[in-house]
Amino acid sequence: MISDNQLPLFDQLPEAPRFDLPLRRLKYPVWTENKARLIERYLYYFVLVTKHGTYIDGFAGPQEAEKPDMWSAKLVLESEPRWLKHFFLFEKDPKQIARVQQLADSQPPRTRKGNKRNIHVIAGDFNESVHQLLSAGRFSKKEAAFCLLDQRTFECHWSTVEALARYKTEKYKIELFYFLSNGWLDRALAAQKDFAVLESWWGDPDWCNLRSMPHLDRAKWLSSRLREQLGYVFVTPWPIFERKGSSRVMYYMIHATDHPEAPKLMNRAYFKAVEPKEPAEQFRLDFSRAKEPAA
Ligand SMILES: C[S@@+](CC[C@H](N)C(=O)[O-])C[C@H]1O[C@@H](n2cnc3c(N)ncnc32)[C@H](O)[C@@H]1O
Repeated sequence: MISDNQLPLFDQLPEAPRFDLPLRRLKYPVWTENKARLIERYLYYFVLVTKHGTYIDGFAGPQEAEKPDMWSAKLVLESEPRWLKHFFLFEKDPKQIARVQQLADSQPPRTRKGNKRNIHVIAGDFNESVHQLLSAGRFSKKEAAFCLLDQRTFECHWSTVEALARYKTEKYKIELFYFLSNGWLDRALAAQKDFAVLESWWGDPDWCNLRSMPHLDRAKWLSSRLREQLGYVFVTPWPIFERKGSSRVMYYMIHATDHPEAPKLMNRAYFKAVEPKEPAEQFRLDFSRAKEPAA
């Protein structure tokens, strides 16, 4: 049994949500306001394990400029320990670029002995710039890398997702955290008259099947494409609810990774996103215990 004030070990953590159950049965769901905290918490665990890494944010500007505590790039940049080494923050809207640049400028300066971080703000369309980033080899293929694809609805092209998935040929692929809208997807699909936009987003003309599909099946379908077409070993759609207590799923954050520990870390982050961060020592203890072979 797990008491409320005790941190569960990985093998005692609740299972990832079963999507064949009504989602309102989930005990500790994350709602929209806490999405950035989920991302921050996951990367906190990620960096405690990897001790280094690259963070790519394809759509980095704040969703709500007046609510900086809900801004993923800000929470991740300011999270301690500052062991993620390379940041690539992409943004195409001029006002948003200024905000992202201001955030980057407000970070502690690089120093020879201490802070070795690089923060790159890249202005322009991520769907184009991503190819330059990858072909220029600006971070090592051996390095652990996480990419947030936090689009509004149809902005992230499938070819971009493919390029990210194919970049690393050593160790694990770049981890993805892909935003799939749900609450407004029917309306958005009906309103979008330029089918080329939908085809670039989905990657083929099959997007039209989404119109008649039950909501959860869309998330499952995209997850299976990430597994089958791009080769990710573990893919899990995490529902993000409208608000506390609501059973309305506004969107899914789909986590795609090859690392066997990563889904457990995301599971832990999802259920703990709104709680105070546990100290690194506590996390390490849990992590090493969870890896011990059963006696
Ligand atoms: C939903 S917001 C991102 C929210 C943000 N991740 C947060 O935590 O608040 C999407 C951002 O992507 C930007 N954007 C839209 N299309 C883009 C593209 N093709 N390339 C780069 N940025 C884009 C928008 O200007 C906006 O700032």
